[in-house]
Amino acid sequence: MPLSVIRKAVLPAAGLGTRFLPATKASPKEMLPLVDKPLIQYAVEEAVASGIEDIIIVTGRGKRAIEDHFDRSFELEENLKGNKKDGMLKEVRRISELANFCYVRQPEARGLGHAVLCAQHLVGDEPFAVMLGDEVIDAPIPGLAQLIKIFQEREGSVLGVKKVPSQEVSRYGIVANRRIAPGLHRVEDLIEKPDPKQAPSRYAVIGRYVLSSDIFPILRRIPPGKNGEIQLTDALRILAKTSPMYAHEMQGQRHDAGEKLGFLKATVEFALKNPALGPPFAKYLKTLNLQRHF
Ligand code: UTP
Repeated sequence: MPLSVIRKAVLPAAGLGTRFLPATKASPKEMLPLVDKPLIQYAVEEAVASGIEDIIIVTGRGKRAIEDHFDRSFELEENLKGNKKDGMLKEVRRISELANFCYVRQPEARGLGHAVLCAQHLVGDEPFAVMLGDEVIDAPIPGLAQLIKIFQEREGSVLGVKKVPSQEVSRYGIVANRRIAPGLHRVEDLIEKPDPKQAPSRYAVIGRYVLSSDIFPILRRIPPGKNGEIQLTDALRILAKTSPMYAHEMQGQRHDAGEKLGFLKATVEFALKNPALGPPFAKYLKTLNLQRHF
């Protein structure tokens, strides 16, 4: 098989979801529904539409609902069959047939880098994708497919980036870049959550990566960074110094649905786009007298 085929995607989902408490006290953040599908299903569907066959989900305590969601549900299926709800039956079955799912536990939330490292034995020596399930990319060409195309053309790791306003750089990993083509940059360095005055650019890494397996030995040896966590950004910095790394400006709309305001905005936009719900929801929104609230 040519090296440039990306078959596996790692979806870290073992975080504590503190920005969404108390909803995430006992329920996984990744299972919060955007209209009628949990956040993580959007990422899985994006992966599958990008040619991924194996979905590796990194889970932790309290995340059982994720495994159940992508499994068969015989009782529910029998019920839907009995009640002649064929459309929903097909939809429910489709979810468990989307890809080959496997799960690995991260025993403690020791950071995104550590979560990725937990999947090493399932990924092996091939290049692979990392997708953060709480970032939803709404794009005509699936977000991950955009990165895989660059990976195939350039044979180097690729990060999805978005230009953010200067006052927001301190919320993201920011790349030090050299533009090499429209929408494409060579990554020379990365800085995690920089002060706006020290930020090398306004290009923020947004939760989609195609990485060489060379990242694993780096993750294994780096010490804990910010917040005492093994940071993926710290490992990417080292990888960028030793092998080519690119940043692709992602086409499409990106929602950070892992925090409350981003989640609300994504909910409104996806509801308005929904063929059945959109028209009545838009009608309802028009009736709201927003001034009454502020
Ligand atoms: P986030 O920082 O967005 O998620 O990590 P979080 O840590 O769950 O949430 P907050 O910041 O406390 O609100 C990005 C992704 O990485 C996973 C999370 O589940 C999320 O999907 N993650 C993070 C892990 O799997 N393990 C970790 O130790 C940390």
